[in-house]
Amino acid sequence: MKIIVFTGAGISAESGLKTFRGEDGLWEDYSVEEVATLQAWRRNPELVQEFYNIRRKAVSEADPNAAHYALAELEKEADVCIITQNIDDLHERAGSRNIVHLHGLITYSQSSIDPGLRYPIAGRELKMGTYCEKGSQLRPHVVWFGEDVPMMDKAMKLVQESDIFITIGTSLQVYPAANLIHFLPETCEKYLIDPNAGNMRELNGWNLIVDKAAKAVPELIEGWKSTGKFNKQR
Ligand code: OAD
Repeated sequence: MKIIVFTGAGISAESGLKTFRGEDGLWEDYSVEEVATLQAWRRNPELVQEFYNIRRKAVSEADPNAAHYALAELEKEADVCIITQNIDDLHERAGSRNIVHLHGLITYSQSSIDPGLRYPIAGRELKMGTYCEKGSQLRPHVVWFGEDVPMMDKAMKLVQESDIFITIGTSLQVYPAANLIHFLPETCEKYLIDPNAGNMRELNGWNLIVDKAAKAVPELIEGWKSTGKFNKQR
């Protein structure tokens, strides 16, 4: 039995990290065009570095919450893969091992010429004037709007094989990531955990859990364990 978990910013909200959309979302304070596109990087790389330096600091000060930990525990019971749109490392720090970062990872840098050259960032800041081994400026290892999503093919294959699919804390508004839900097998059990789940369209046949992640994710998993779900189907 393969469980695929698809997470967005909402799973890290109770760790103190801002989501992107809606009231108090990051895109209320910043314009995507100014900080999260290749054009922005070319126009004003200092501003882009600063935006991600602030995000990196916030991530380094945040801790995983009960939802991240429950998913890490689930990996001990079942075949779990997390596909996350988040650039934070809270799934890793909670103990999950099988993680696909669709939009990159903020604790890493990449060459601005060759995205294959990646390096862990020591500390919280990536500065202009820091170069890769081939001499080009390092940028944050994140996928910007308009860029390819290199992990998309892998994610799509995983989704097509899933028996249980749990979506947590994403508005499903950013593509191609949001397309993943259209590749689910018909027989797959589908769950959506999000306080806004009741307002999401096109989710016929899904189990909608209108609640916050840190409460709902452990409850869902505990419920499964108490009914022996994994023993039966593994
Ligand atoms: P959004 O900000 O679009 O959506 C966050 C979702 O989390 C919303 O549906 C909220 O209702 C929900 N939410 C808020 N608090 C929650 C909680 N405590 N528990 C569970 N859910 C909660 O964030 P994403 O969908 O992740 O991409 O955004 C997708 C992409 O857009 C991001 O990866 C980023 C962004 O622009 C790039 O930068 C490329």
